[in-house]
Amino acid sequence: MDFMECVKTRRSIRKFKEEDVAFESIQKAVEAAVYAPSWKNTQITRYYAVSNKDMKDKIAGYLPSINQVAAQSAPVLMVVSVVKYRSGYNREGKCDTPKGTGWQMFDCGLSSMLFCLKANELGLGTVIMGYFDEDAIAKDLEIPDTEEVSAIIALGYPDEEPVMPKRKGTDIILKQI
Ligand SMILES: Cc1cc2nc3c(=O)[nH]c(=O)nc-3n(C[C@H](O)[C@H](O)[C@H](O)COP(=O)(O)O)c2cc1C
Repeated sequence: MDFMECVKTRRSIRKFKEEDVAFESIQKAVEAAVYAPSWKNTQITRYYAVSNKDMKDKIAGYLPSINQVAAQSAPVLMVVSVVKYRSGYNREGKCDTPKGTGWQMFDCGLSSMLFCLKANELGLGTVIMGYFDEDAIAKDLEIPDTEEVSAIIALGYPDEEPVMPKRKGTDIILKQI
């Protein structure tokens, strides 16, 4: 798939088919994410692929009603976390910039974007979800407290074809100085 086609055809998918996703496909999407740039190449993003039905139901239970259709129908919930206090920090553990912990979310976003694009190329749908009970998820998945849950990505074969939400033009988001 051509790059711009992949970028333009990726949609947030909120309804998935029952079909399972092969672990090899998940691995391929994470392999793409590995190539994301990161603060001093710290590579802090981690992925927990939850496909076990009982655990997936538990995780879905920590999401609000607006995300229930996506969370319940997706055969896989990718819990995305970051290793804390590395991105944006120096060896002495001090912030190198005024952005504090902001760079860790930046790095996680870059990684997640590549994950979603590769998934799209593989015919898989994704939706990044930002509302959830972080502590409950970390506890159930035994995510170490050196990490912080950043996002949940529902993953599966799309059972809908959403129209692309309108995009702003470069006349608005780009200024030539
Ligand atoms: C950080 C972040 C959090 C999001 N959280 C949610 C969410 O909780 N539920 C949801 O349905 N979509 C969520 N989305 C998806 C956006 O609504 C979606 O990307 C946007 O409407 C553009 O649509 P598109 O992804 O199809 O281009 C989130 C996206 C991002 C990047």
